Amino acid sequence: MSTRTPLMAGNWKMNLDWKQGLALVEELGEQLKDVDTSKVETVVLPPFVDIRTVQTAVEAGKLPIAYGAQDISEHESGAYTGEVSGPMLSALGCTYVAVGHSERRQYHGETEQITNNKVKAAFAAGLTPILCVGEPLEERKAGKHVEYTLAQLEGGIEGLDVEQAKQIVIAYEPVWAIGTGEVATPDDAQEVCAAIREALQAIYGAEVAGAVRVLYGGSVKSANVAELMEKQDVDGALVGGASLKAEEFAKIAGFQG
Ligand code: 13P
Repeated sequence: MSTRTPLMAGNWKMNLDWKQGLALVEELGEQLKDVDTSKVETVVLPPFVDIRTVQTAVEAGKLPIAYGAQDISEHESGAYTGEVSGPMLSALGCTYVAVGHSERRQYHGETEQITNNKVKAAFAAGLTPILCVGEPLEERKAGKHVEYTLAQLEGGIEGLDVEQAKQIVIAYEPVWAIGTGEVATPDDAQEVCAAIREALQAIYGAEVAGAVRVLYGGSVKSANVAELMEKQDVDGALVGGASLKAEEFAKIAGFQG
């Protein structure tokens, strides 16, 4: 367990319309009353069309929940049909945005360059990117998981200054563990999260490496979060399926007891 403030982020993916999202965030606010929210940062990443409703609920109820988006346009504004810009997200009170999720890379053709542009677009709009990295099964089987993941890391953070690097959140999500129920072992998660921190240290120095939160993602639930969080370099979780149930996600946020 590290001294960095743990961050538990719920990626709702393409689930829950605005009414369902409202119900979930209100229920999560209730459930978090049993959690010491000064010790953990709880974040939800709803679909774009839910964000305005989530904003209203969080502000009205003064809920201890930060929120953000699952994606961001590389561009600031203009003729990019279907895209949502960083300034639009910050105008909704978003503080985080996921960038380079494996589902974006796999199904939407997001390259390293696009991911890097999106990380920069997030910073330009005052948002904190949660840069997602992680290897597919073949790379893991070939023993190339660290190398593969670090290449994605280096591509994603290319050109960031020290202040930006200190603020970024990295999520290590091995593709084979996403939505499969097959969670990485705490040692597997630690191995890659530590390698990510070492790479940050080599590029930006010890202060940045010590500050950056590195999350693990892939089949995290309340039953396995505590053992993952015991690891020195795991500072939180990026949670998919288990973030869609308020009680379960609040238990994840309350992993410290
Ligand atoms: P699951 O928790 O459903 O495996 O999803 C992980 C994930 O992709 C979070 O971004």
